[in-house]
Amino acid sequence: MRAKKVLPAGVSYGIRALPPYPFYLDHAKGVKLYDADGNVYTDYWVGHGALILGHAHDNIIKAVEKQLPNGTHFGFSHEKEIKLAERIVKYVPSAEMVRYTSSGTEANMYGTRLARAYTGRNKMLKIEGGWHGGYDSLHAYVSRPYGRVESAGLNPKVTEDTMAVPYNDLEAATKIAKKEKPACIVMEPVMGAAGFLTPEPGYLEGMRELCTEVGALLIFDEVITGFRLGMGGAQGYYGVTPDLTIMGKVIGGGFPVGAFCGPEEIMELIDHNKYPDPEKRSAHGGTFTGNPITMVAGCATVDTLKDGVVHKHIDALGEKMRSGLQDIFDAAKYPASVTGVGSTFGIHFQKEKPKSAGDTAKNDIEMTKAYFRYMLERNIVYLSPTVSHSWISSPHTKEDVEEYLRVTEEFMKSYKA
Ligand SMILES: Cc1ncc(COP(=O)(O)O)c(C=O)c1O
Repeated sequence: MRAKKVLPAGVSYGIRALPPYPFYLDHAKGVKLYDADGNVYTDYWVGHGALILGHAHDNIIKAVEKQLPNGTHFGFSHEKEIKLAERIVKYVPSAEMVRYTSSGTEANMYGTRLARAYTGRNKMLKIEGGWHGGYDSLHAYVSRPYGRVESAGLNPKVTEDTMAVPYNDLEAATKIAKKEKPACIVMEPVMGAAGFLTPEPGYLEGMRELCTEVGALLIFDEVITGFRLGMGGAQGYYGVTPDLTIMGKVIGGGFPVGAFCGPEEIMELIDHNKYPDPEKRSAHGGTFTGNPITMVAGCATVDTLKDGVVHKHIDALGEKMRSGLQDIFDAAKYPASVTGVGSTFGIHFQKEKPKSAGDTAKNDIEMTKAYFRYMLERNIVYLSPTVSHSWISSPHTKEDVEEYLRVTEEFMKSYKA
């Protein structure tokens, strides 16, 4: 195959190597994907969850078209980077100041570096199964069995100071944080790649108190939840304010982005005027940071979301999807647990609702793969074949959700273990 000759596994990101083989897209609009062979799919992956307004939304296209002839990448300061930061500061409770990156991975890298600079500590506590991108020091305890080497070529020295505890286990976090006194606890308030697992009542509040008690910074990785669970992200939704917030996906309006933000007292450590000594300053940079295309697309996205209509629509569809799916599995008497919140939903073919990524080991993988294949053959697509987790975007309709539920029901009738 042509792709395999020039791209390892024929793809640009391993998770896109769908079995039996990936389709190659020609174009996309709304939540419809059009592949090179003329097939049309309804998309529940929507740009890794970045496209809350769907593909090629008019407001984004207009903003980007206006910017294109005026420069795609200045490499100097400009007003649009201030405009997006002002919007983030306005809506995200923990944000007073913002720095951009070009991806969520980098935002986690710089954000945790800043936490270590601020606290003068090295250790970091994360959550088992937490995906923060490919940054070396956080590329530990990602997949089961937790604690193994996650990648060839990863220097084990850079993960020596990284520790992990299960999600929703405040006791385990308390025990280790009190003993080890980490620089930060870095966590997704809602676990994404593990299949949209939600916090138990009191858990996030407990993690907040714990960090304050042990002098660690609480970092919420809101790359997925930022501007998705409402304008204030998960911190607004659950009413728990972290010290630092990592952002990405939605705030780029479909263009590469990341950002980290927090109070001035912490963020100023990046200010080279205040801290000319590199040993005291937390370094940050990047060629494409704050590029005007991403900035105008981000502003257009936030402005489209701010009246709450989109969130109301996608959250209602999310609820319809989650309850509809659970009813189908229950009626079929098949052990399944549907997770998620707002516009996200995850499907776990196991009886008990997973509270942590470790719990998802009970998921029936063969069933999950068969379901993925069945949906794909009926032109409904999401990722991944082994962890079913999906996003609703504004172009999704009630009819799309009903179709998804109808095909699921059909699958349940046809599936023979
Ligand atoms: C919670 C979370 N953090 C970080 C990242 C990494 O972001 P990026 O892929 O933009 O580097 C992701 C990507 O999916 C994510 O879901």
